Amino acid sequence: MKFFIDTANLDQIREANDLGILDGVTTNPSLMAKEGIKGEENILKHYIDICNIVDGDVSAEVIATDFAGIIREAENLAALHPQIVVKVPMIKEGVKAIKYLTSQGIKTNCTLVFSAGQAILAAKAGATYVSPFIGRLDDVSTDGVALIGQIAHIYSLYNFETQVLAASIRHSMHIISCAEVGADVVTCPLDPILGLLKHPLTDIGLEKFLADHKKK
Ligand code: E4P
Repeated sequence: MKFFIDTANLDQIREANDLGILDGVTTNPSLMAKEGIKGEENILKHYIDICNIVDGDVSAEVIATDFAGIIREAENLAALHPQIVVKVPMIKEGVKAIKYLTSQGIKTNCTLVFSAGQAILAAKAGATYVSPFIGRLDDVSTDGVALIGQIAHIYSLYNFETQVLAASIRHSMHIISCAEVGADVVTCPLDPILGLLKHPLTDIGLEKFLADHKKK
């Protein structure tokens, strides 16, 4: 299972990358705005900065919602750096754009996916990744992890190559649950990743080992 970090914060990307377990980065317009990255030139530069930190796929989202606009932005983003994956929303024009971009050899991440039907369309269009938002589903009393399992099962039946990228992860248990149901990738903020490190018995055990080592 691949680990992506879901942030546009360069310090957090560096910290996760330094752990040695990072396979890529996802961003979205809200995450870019949170870091105060505004204006096309700054946004494009920021994507390049991210690519220069991490050796892996970096999702950069289009803003356009019409076919021609999505293609124009996608080609611009893809030309920035070989690691860029173009994030396209799950709308009618987005599906058409994913099909076209795939035919042009441009990698895509179909975002804002909330159902198995949407995930089937993304796979049929040839998306590199499909991003079901599990935290936002949980927020409305719907089982996000169950959707990951359902999509992974459907894809395996038909050998779809689209990778299931579990997004909108809120805590460490989401990561473990997604691993159990066959997610290909999890993208999460830094805290849930670091949360996987923690166990009180590890801390107690280490403290005792170090204390015993000091005894004469
Ligand atoms: C996915 O790629 C999105 O950037 C992200 O996971 C959304 O998460 P949120 O629901 O916490 O905003």
